[in-house]
Amino acid sequence: MSANFYHNNSKQVHLKNGSNLVIRRPVAEDAEKMVEYLNIVGGESDNLLFGKGEFRLSVEKEAEYIKSISSDNNILMLLGIIDNNIVSVAQITSSNRKRIAHNAEISISVKKEYWGTGIGSAVMSELIEFAKEHDIIKNISLGVKASNLSALKLYEKFGFIKVGAHKNFFNVNGVFDDEILMDLYL
Ligand SMILES: CC(C)(COP(=O)(O)OP(=O)(O)OC[C@H]1O[C@@H](n2cnc3c(N)ncnc32)[C@H](O)[C@@H]1OP(=O)(O)O)[C@@H](O)C(=O)NCCC(=O)NCCS
Repeated sequence: MSANFYHNNSKQVHLKNGSNLVIRRPVAEDAEKMVEYLNIVGGESDNLLFGKGEFRLSVEKEAEYIKSISSDNNILMLLGIIDNNIVSVAQITSSNRKRIAHNAEISISVKKEYWGTGIGSAVMSELIEFAKEHDIIKNISLGVKASNLSALKLYEKFGFIKVGAHKNFFNVNGVFDDEILMDLYL
């Protein structure tokens, strides 16, 4: 895969349940469906930083953001799409500050009805591939709620290791939980 693969192309992945997953970069026209998606997935688990309807970016702002990152080599945002519906949004971002430019961060979500079908793994592979193609990136970090066992398993499967924790980082309706910090050293 060339470094510019996602600038012009999309990738198709055949999932174990028979569905065809398309993975591609978003374009401004995806903004409305993305905001809709993010407000739904926020309510489908207690594991994201926002709940149902709490993703407060307007469609216009989201479209602007998509445009702003489309030519940014430090950021790859990917959509997972099945039958024209967004089923996953994920992103890897590395810093443009020289002293910490070798560190990248990952975030990922999958629509609940598709959990366990391999979408998280397929998208994660692409994000890690992007990091590996950028020789400058040496470390990928993420934070995950301690009780989010599926996500912990996904990350461990790709070689992430636990490096620390923020105690009681999450407060979901009065229930506190730690954030586990994980790194993947490339
Ligand atoms: C975490 C998440 C992204 C995983 O996506 P997914 O598409 O379900 O992941 P996959 O189907 O590729 O499964 C990846 C691994 O997770 C583990 N896993 C998946 N579902 C699981 C379940 N129900 N129970 C235990 N482990 C599970 C397995 O180890 C699996 O690997 P394997 O199938 O090779 O054994 C998805 O559950 C999600 O979006 N959750 C809500 C938002 C969220 O938690 N995001 C992460 C915030 S840090």
